[in-house]
Amino acid sequence: MNHTRLHFPNDFSWGSSTASYQIEGACDEDGRGRSIWDTFSHIPGSIIDGTSGDIACDHYHRYREDIALMRQLNQRHYRFSTSWSRVIPEGSGQINQSGLDFYSSLVDTLLENGITPYLTLYHWDLPQALQEKGGWQNRDTAYQFAAYAQVMAEHLGDRVNHWMTHNEPWVSSFVGNLYGEHAPGLKDLGTALQVSHHILLSHGLAVPAIRSASTSPDTSVGIVNNLEWVEPASSDAADVAAASRHDGAFNRWFLDPIFKGSYPEDMLSWYGNDAPEIAPGDMRIISTPTDFMGVNYYTRRIIAHDPHGDFLHTRRVIWPFIDRAEYESWEKTPEALYRLLVRVKDDYDNPVLYITENGTPLQDQVSITDGKKTVHDELRIDYLKRHMGAAWQALADGVRLKGYFVWSTLDNFEWNLGTSKRFGLVYVDYETQERIIKESGKWFSEVSRTNSI
Ligand code: FCB
Repeated sequence: MNHTRLHFPNDFSWGSSTASYQIEGACDEDGRGRSIWDTFSHIPGSIIDGTSGDIACDHYHRYREDIALMRQLNQRHYRFSTSWSRVIPEGSGQINQSGLDFYSSLVDTLLENGITPYLTLYHWDLPQALQEKGGWQNRDTAYQFAAYAQVMAEHLGDRVNHWMTHNEPWVSSFVGNLYGEHAPGLKDLGTALQVSHHILLSHGLAVPAIRSASTSPDTSVGIVNNLEWVEPASSDAADVAAASRHDGAFNRWFLDPIFKGSYPEDMLSWYGNDAPEIAPGDMRIISTPTDFMGVNYYTRRIIAHDPHGDFLHTRRVIWPFIDRAEYESWEKTPEALYRLLVRVKDDYDNPVLYITENGTPLQDQVSITDGKKTVHDELRIDYLKRHMGAAWQALADGVRLKGYFVWSTLDNFEWNLGTSKRFGLVYVDYETQERIIKESGKWFSEVSRTNSI
């Protein structure tokens, strides 16, 4: 047996990620305002198992216990998001001091436990009051976001060094406004595209706001994108063109504005009249230089041409969230992560990167071993290990990768899929709120402790 371990650079950061609406609960406590997810999750039929984030993991009340678990698992880095409507209930104007106090105490507790906070300002929970004024379709929302970013940086920027403006603008724009599967549940391409532009604009406006309001000398600011490695289903010219459109819509539509200050021409002409309105100066704001980019990666895509398919006239041959039986078909995805990271390095001038999410859902079952509850999620260990290997290879080939965060710290409310999908290193029994460390959690604690796989 080969016991050679792959070692990572000394300053490499290992951690795990969560998001406010997915874990906090306490949806109407201490002055929190409603968000579009509170509204959406209560529309019958919107969440496949009828659950919501009303309670979720009750992390709002249990954050000390959850942070103690992270410490027990040798986690030195933690990525979480703040709920805009907990801090500014109406989205603009009046600040809710209790909301700020909660995040301030969360950050202090992390630091006391030797855990570095990575703060995401927007993980999809727009204040409902702003949605009623048009949400991200309304240009003003971008300016309100920058004001919220400034409030957070003024209050936490003495202790938080790592800031992320948005999580996965593609998902907020398209899954929420074209597919209607996420809040706010709209189905219109032009809306989705205008939303994507205003989200990118809000990112560009927030970067200097965070920098100027933070007092820490080591502030670094970035954005998190979900990127996909795309392969055509065949060498047929139509499939190759379809794969290029998919790449254009998912990857280049977000990367080109941020790194090059322009939208990809091929996509602007594909979208035609649905393309967003862009005011003079917007692209300069969006391409404000950042310190790093977060990459969320789950699986590769195989794309075929299909004139009856989606808005890109494509069809996906592989979809994520595949369970046990189909796991084998994910075989090649670690290699795709490697290729994706190298592609970003080559096409976008080798930016500093973090893998801010990577993980897999499984139908985890609790079992008893030596009188102790555990979850034998060996497939998750296998998945994570292979992807970490791909990350190691990318580092060896010159990608400036600074860290890797597992999705997720603990099982949580998986958006429209409710509590039916478990991604955690820690199992959550939603009836009792008991936390049970999975085998993957124990395994990951050794990765983090030894800085190697
Ligand atoms: C990502 C999201 C995260 C979680 C994982 C499974 O797209 O950022 O909140 O839903 O997928």
